[in-house]
Amino acid sequence: MENVYGLLGFPVEHSLSPLMHNDAFVRLGIPARYHLFSVHPKQVSEAIAGVRALGIAGVNVTIPHKMAVIPFLDDIDDHARRIGAVNTIVNDNGRLVGYNTDGPGYVKALEEEMDVSLDGKRILLIGAGGGARGIYFSLLSTAAKRIDMTNRTVEKAEQLVREGGDGRSAYFSLAEAEARLDEYDIMINTTSVGMHPRVEAQPLSLERLQPGTIVSDIIYNPLETKWLKEAKARGARVQNGVGMLVYQGALAFEKWTGQWPDVNRMKQLVIEALRR
Ligand code: ATR
Repeated sequence: MENVYGLLGFPVEHSLSPLMHNDAFVRLGIPARYHLFSVHPKQVSEAIAGVRALGIAGVNVTIPHKMAVIPFLDDIDDHARRIGAVNTIVNDNGRLVGYNTDGPGYVKALEEEMDVSLDGKRILLIGAGGGARGIYFSLLSTAAKRIDMTNRTVEKAEQLVREGGDGRSAYFSLAEAEARLDEYDIMINTTSVGMHPRVEAQPLSLERLQPGTIVSDIIYNPLETKWLKEAKARGARVQNGVGMLVYQGALAFEKWTGQWPDVNRMKQLVIEALRR
């Protein structure tokens, strides 16, 4: 019988996840299908009960349900518990277990796409919202030397560093971070600044950027933000948000099926769809 997978979110219509997962199921000969489930915020508990009742094999969870699903699960892994958000649920013979592959997906994409080891690296995270949280806690499990944070509302960066930090993190205002840009090997924008339709906006001035720095943006619409364009022009190595999107999906796929999909093919499909 065909296994059913899917995405719980609101809205979900524009998700690229079915494209990635359904193609990977076909290519690996796995009898399964990934569907979109638009779940109203008032019906999260019913949706999870539905996953159980219908024997749905696994789901992704997206905005605005990543926190709301937690009370209805049987178990949640340490990383997801720590960040307080679930993006992947595995139905293990009726036991629903929550994971979060966003941060781990980001880190894996960074290491593989940029062919870099994070050991000893000095990293600056821009932003302190939901996107930053998963990435920050995942970076803390690497051997990076520094994982500093800057945010428009500096108190939010301070709070996150206090909560997770292990002595490797400082927090700065945007102006302070801009003045210290030359101290970092890797810079990551986790904010929505520069995302369609406000494509002219930039999260941080790159005046003091050193050539050779890795500049990474989790935004994938547009594929290359104005910020990444400028970083590239200043001699940086740049990465867009497609990698995180694909690798969080690939890690979920692996949890569901035990198999690692062809991430380059997933990436190609996503980029083609985004260009359309
Ligand atoms: P998400 O869950 O997508 O991360 P979020 O929790 O609302 O969304 O966080 C958005 C992040 O983008 C925050 O770091 C936010 O900064 P504040 O904490 O100061 O709000 C940042 N952000 C959004 N719009 C911004 C802007 N115009 N300038 C600077 N930072 C911005």
